[in-house]
Amino acid sequence: MNLRNFWVCFVLTFNLLAVHNSFAAPSLILADTDLLLEVGIPIVDHAPEIGVALAELDPLDEDRLIAAAHARGKCGGFQRLSTQPWQDLAERRELARESLDQLVEVTLAPPVTPAPVLTPVQFDPAIQTAVNQVDEGKLRETVTFLSSFETRFHRSPTPNRHIDPMIQKIQEILSQARWISQVDTFTHTYTQQKSIRVRIPGATLPDEIVVMGAHLDSINQGWSSAIAPGADDNASGSANILEALRILAGQPRPARTIDLFWYAGEEGGLIGSSEIAKAYARAGNKVVGALQLDMTLFPGDGEFTLGSMTDFTSPELRQWFVELNRVYIGGKIIEDRCGYGCSDHASWHSSGYRALMPFEASFGRMFSDLHTTKDVISDKLSFRHSAMFSKIAVAFAMTLGSRP
Ligand code: BES
Ligand code: ZN
Repeated sequence: MNLRNFWVCFVLTFNLLAVHNSFAAPSLILADTDLLLEVGIPIVDHAPEIGVALAELDPLDEDRLIAAAHARGKCGGFQRLSTQPWQDLAERRELARESLDQLVEVTLAPPVTPAPVLTPVQFDPAIQTAVNQVDEGKLRETVTFLSSFETRFHRSPTPNRHIDPMIQKIQEILSQARWISQVDTFTHTYTQQKSIRVRIPGATLPDEIVVMGAHLDSINQGWSSAIAPGADDNASGSANILEALRILAGQPRPARTIDLFWYAGEEGGLIGSSEIAKAYARAGNKVVGALQLDMTLFPGDGEFTLGSMTDFTSPELRQWFVELNRVYIGGKIIEDRCGYGCSDHASWHSSGYRALMPFEASFGRMFSDLHTTKDVISDKLSFRHSAMFSKIAVAFAMTLGSRP
């Protein structure tokens, strides 16, 4: 068993023990109404307009529910609502009803404004020249800088310790840029940590936005106050975006707006990106596509082979990316899936936007020391491999940033 699986199992076992310790209290879950009726689980409330119900699941019924969900071709088949030990049943039910209401709202929300056209990939020597400027040495420098903070955990006593130093690095780059840009920090409702955004305003189609991002936070899953260097997860993707910014700074102003993000609290459940993506959708912002870089340093399938996640991403954008890769990058793409919303691309996807998630390797061959003190720069990690992802970001921004 690798360490990641160990921790997942540990956390699950720990949670199960907690459940049993509280005299096998039922959990509140959201699931398909039909599924619950089939298994005979008591329903507390239901939303007929989306066919989902709120139920109290006796731990003893859990296996039957999972088996019935599997028979219907679903993996987990239900969502367990998190509760705190100090909440009484009435309070838990009340919060659970709110979750059901929110689900109805999100599910029935009108689709966001029609997606802007994807600029076709046609070889442009200026883009190739820019792609070739990616510098592995700069990536190493940024990963060294970020992974030397004790932690970038969103619930640490100093959750923003690394934010100003990171903004300083960004400003150094922007001072050399050929265009005027805007740097914003985002405060969030569900975390004290801030997200950072650099906006390069588009010259001719400013209301069409190309999004690229990475989560800047880290976590130690064993002990939340422990050291969490997060070199691969995700100083690597954060460094890739910074390096792409450095190269874009030497390019003419794009036709479309380009927003670069370093998200807060991804490890706490995609907190920063989901608040941001929802705000974009509420404002009716037109997003051409959102590129997510999360873990790019470990060449698990060999250097220049990358995973392209097929869940919570757009088939159209993935297909477009195959072309982008063929023309400018030349990597080998393996399609794979996380099986759940494993990173911030899921936030954009869930808000109705096209998302893309190129990843260091296929899911099963990813770096196994993530979320531990061992996620540090070592011979296992390759900056040459990681450089490919900054190249992707440069080609993504320059191609989609130009008029279709
Ligand atoms: N980088 C990881 C996740 C990841 C795993 C991405 C495999 C791509 C392939 C990310 O930071 C993470 O840890 N995500 C959590 C889920 C999140 C919703 C808290 C995870 O995978 O457990
Ligand atoms: Zn992680």
